[in-house]
Amino acid sequence: MSLWGGRFSHASDEILRALNDSIEFDHVLYAEDIEGSIVYARALADAKVITPAEAESIIGGLRQVMQEFDADAFEFAESDEDIHTAVERRLTEIVGEVGGKLHTGRSRNDQVATDFRLWAMRAADNLASELRLLQTALLSQAEGHCETVLPGYTHLQPAQPISVAHWLMSFFWMFERDLDRLRSARERMAECPLGSGALAGNPFPVDRHQIAADLGFERPSENSLDAVSDRDFVADLLYVASLCAVHLSRLAEDILIYSNPAFGFITLDDRYSTGSSLMPQKRNADPMELMRGKTGRLIGNLVGFLTTLKSLPSGYNKDLQEDKEPLFDSLANMFRLLPVITATVASLAINVDAMSEALSEDLLATDLADYLVKRGLPFRQAHHAVGAIVRMAAERGVALSDMDLDTLQGVSSHFDDDVAAVFDYGRSVEQRTSFGGTASAAVKLQIERAKAQLRR
Ligand code: ARG
Repeated sequence: MSLWGGRFSHASDEILRALNDSIEFDHVLYAEDIEGSIVYARALADAKVITPAEAESIIGGLRQVMQEFDADAFEFAESDEDIHTAVERRLTEIVGEVGGKLHTGRSRNDQVATDFRLWAMRAADNLASELRLLQTALLSQAEGHCETVLPGYTHLQPAQPISVAHWLMSFFWMFERDLDRLRSARERMAECPLGSGALAGNPFPVDRHQIAADLGFERPSENSLDAVSDRDFVADLLYVASLCAVHLSRLAEDILIYSNPAFGFITLDDRYSTGSSLMPQKRNADPMELMRGKTGRLIGNLVGFLTTLKSLPSGYNKDLQEDKEPLFDSLANMFRLLPVITATVASLAINVDAMSEALSEDLLATDLADYLVKRGLPFRQAHHAVGAIVRMAAERGVALSDMDLDTLQGVSSHFDDDVAAVFDYGRSVEQRTSFGGTASAAVKLQIERAKAQLRR
């Protein structure tokens, strides 16, 4: 018998059950559902709707149901439509008729919204912890490479030299912003719908502030209709997870490119590399490709769910049951991706020599223009002059530093024999001392500031 069978003379058809039931995926909400019910039973007793003895009996029964789930010993019944019906059915088997008093004034509409917010708050906390571990791995790698230089790219073309630490720390800050978004989403989701009833509120004098506090929420929701019918907290978390996955996919793409033998800047640890069943020489980075690949799926979950929400009329609608699978899926994937990328970063071998061999003097063309600027030439003219020198060097098939002083002075009288000092990659990096720049002093300050964030 279903919970709502009173007005029907026929049980649901099997084909309806296959569509309608959510137990297959919402059973993971059992702990949140039972915690919500324990707090609600107390609230009913405090409001003198049930006696303290009835509350004790219900709470004892709920604790037993929790133990059965924890021990993987809970037996589902054919009639268990969703986690809420399953828990109440079992509770009533254990405690008898008094179990039927628990749902007084409550609806599955405020119940499910409460359960899922609680679940999402915990998931957000776990996600934050995983992100902190990744940031710590990035920071530790960076600390060892403040003076290691590699080519920096724009448009994936060689641009200017930067330090390895600077490259790694750029991702630290992306994940810092993801954490900030996560905190703000977490703060918004911490309002408790329980006590909102089906849509109109609760006619029994339950203390919603107490219920919210007992469940670990910051406050009760302000409006019962809103509380049961919006799922913006789900969309928030799907968005934060998607954007974080976008950042993961960008880091993964850098790792894929830099570990390609044509670059050879980094080598992945065997434990986080894969091989080929046919080509014996292969070292692939399948996990990094999954960072990229799964990001598409996370974005799909976000867009799909926003589409589910759009144009829903006020009040609970069964469409809202579609909130769970996308969020479960997105977060389960984040919890698979994050430990792997953290371990990959922590175990990354940085090939200092290969990076140094990849440095070419065209990366110093801007420094050459800056040299002329320091001698009084307007930057636009300096840019033009160096462009001409780059072209001449290419035509002659020589490096920039092989251009003789006479030729340089033919292009600009501002050149002198101290120009040779420009052709030093380390010097180029150390020139960029601006706040947030790649000079080692600036990067060390960046790392100190990052550490302060980690201590927050
Ligand atoms: N399984 C439902 C869900 O996840 C629970 C709420 C059902 N409420 C209702 N009025 N049918 O949304």
